[in-house]
Amino acid sequence: MPSVLQALKTRSSKRAYLTKPVPKDIQEKILEAAGMTPSGANMQPWITYAVSDAKTLKNIGDAIIEKMDAGIINNQFIQYYPVNWVNPYKKRRIVTGSGLYKLLDVDRKDNDARIEMWKDNFRWFGAQTVFFVFTDKANIDGAEGVFIDCGAYMQSIMLAAREFDLDTCPQGSTTEFGKVIAKELKAPENLALLYSVVIGYADDNAKINTYQPSRVALKDTAIFI
Ligand SMILES: Cc1cc2nc3c(=O)[nH]c(=O)nc-3n(C[C@H](O)[C@H](O)[C@H](O)COP(=O)(O)O)c2cc1C
Repeated sequence: MPSVLQALKTRSSKRAYLTKPVPKDIQEKILEAAGMTPSGANMQPWITYAVSDAKTLKNIGDAIIEKMDAGIINNQFIQYYPVNWVNPYKKRRIVTGSGLYKLLDVDRKDNDARIEMWKDNFRWFGAQTVFFVFTDKANIDGAEGVFIDCGAYMQSIMLAAREFDLDTCPQGSTTEFGKVIAKELKAPENLALLYSVVIGYADDNAKINTYQPSRVALKDTAIFI
């Protein structure tokens, strides 16, 4: 069993999976454990659709790719990425993206190749299960606190997954098409999609899964007084 620090350090976003399914009892254990995530006033504002039905996943992916191909850049409930990228975050984004493209011999200036690569998100990187995390629209009407709670819940899912030798990839790409996903899942009108987490058994032979973006030094992100 990994220690908490081991789970933190061995987690990294994996973008190629084996077709081996994640048993439902393991999904339940992970989501039950993630349900212990603290939240303001114990609201527990997350509502998760754990989807392993291949047809449903394909339909969601097809619907998103159809929008992309029609030139629609988003159809979302919330704006995840900054509207105006400033440094140092802009630089970190470029360094992280370039590193991945370089590893895969993709020319960073080849927009079509990059878009095709991004579409892998909506093929779930070959994984058989995706957790789609929603909250109630009322919770984000004039308030942002539940984003903190649901972000912590995301990390809980990803760390709990490590205990079962499972890997994950958090997805803000799906945030951008949250309304498409809500429609495909026939989610109730009061729910808004926040993000998804792909979960499965990573393909250790896939080159893309060797990518581990570095982190800035502690001194650049923490101030001790
Ligand atoms: C909220 C969130 C959204 C993300 N969205 C995507 C995504 O849509 N597709 C993707 O391939 N990676 C996505 N990532 C993964 C990040 O690129 C990754 O966490 C970061 O580069 C650090 O790498 P690591 O997770 O391997 O440590 C996302 C991560 C987070 C936390």
